[in-house]
Amino acid sequence: MAGDRRQTTWLVVGASRGIGHEFVNQLLARGDVVYATVRKDAASFWPEAQEQGRCKVFICDIVEQQSIDSFVADLAGLQGIAIDHVIVNAGVLKYPNRATEMSFDEFAFHLNTNTIGPIICAQKLLKAGIPIGAITFISSDSGSAQCFREMEDGFAAYAASKAALNQALRHMAVELKRKGEKTVILALHPGEVKTEMANVDLGWAVEGQMTPSESVEACLKVIESKGVEDSGTFWTWENKTYPW
Ligand SMILES: NC(=O)c1ccc[n+]([C@@H]2O[C@H](COP(=O)([O-])OP(=O)(O)OC[C@H]3O[C@@H](n4cnc5c(N)ncnc54)[C@H](OP(=O)(O)O)[C@@H]3O)[C@@H](O)[C@H]2O)c1
Repeated sequence: MAGDRRQTTWLVVGASRGIGHEFVNQLLARGDVVYATVRKDAASFWPEAQEQGRCKVFICDIVEQQSIDSFVADLAGLQGIAIDHVIVNAGVLKYPNRATEMSFDEFAFHLNTNTIGPIICAQKLLKAGIPIGAITFISSDSGSAQCFREMEDGFAAYAASKAALNQALRHMAVELKRKGEKTVILALHPGEVKTEMANVDLGWAVEGQMTPSESVEACLKVIESKGVEDSGTFWTWENKTYPW
């Protein structure tokens, strides 16, 4: 348990496996309240914590407008709902996705899941009137325009989708500031993490791969160190700013 630390409330979108699943594991282990989304079998995730009322798992497919709407309506309907941190983690990488080879559908798949779904999901949460302290989008160093990763052969659609996510979330941050709203919007690169997404035979050496546990432990520190003055910024798991 967390000693004197205040219990905080989290929402993790895309928590069935990988980094998202580990976020929920660590947050529950330290005694926080966690809402999470998966695409199927919601009752089978963290059954004990759900039974105890410390966790509630919803169904949300972020490429389906209706699924997002129905999840947000169910969440907003919970009495007294207020969330300190939302982590929009869901994402895909279908390797390879070269600009010279990918199909229309393969490009759309990355954009729908990594850009449009996350932004619309966050927008719907904000519009639902749920008080939200911060929304962290799990982005990637692949999406940096200034720090272009030329060696990432086969990453065109993925990189473009994360670059587009970055731009849209920056706009979200300044739009909220203009409206005088205090929700903090962040982009976070979780590092190179050993998950199913990373379990592909790439044509280059991936350096510094971590376990999901190591990445999430570091990411939680980054997320919790940010305040309203940081809205619209891009960070790595090492708490270093990253170029857009
Ligand atoms: N692993 C890395 O090295 C790395 C590096 C940089 C950034 N990232 C980013 O970190 C995030 C998590 O990646 P990961 O490595 O944990 O990948 P992962 O193990 O493949 O997990 C991806 C997660 O996204 C969910 N998801 C996919 N499509 C979805 C949809 N349409 N609606 C809702 N959820 C959906 C998956 O749910 P299902 O089980 O239902 O498919 C799963 O929970 C991603 O945004 C990824 O781009 C990862």
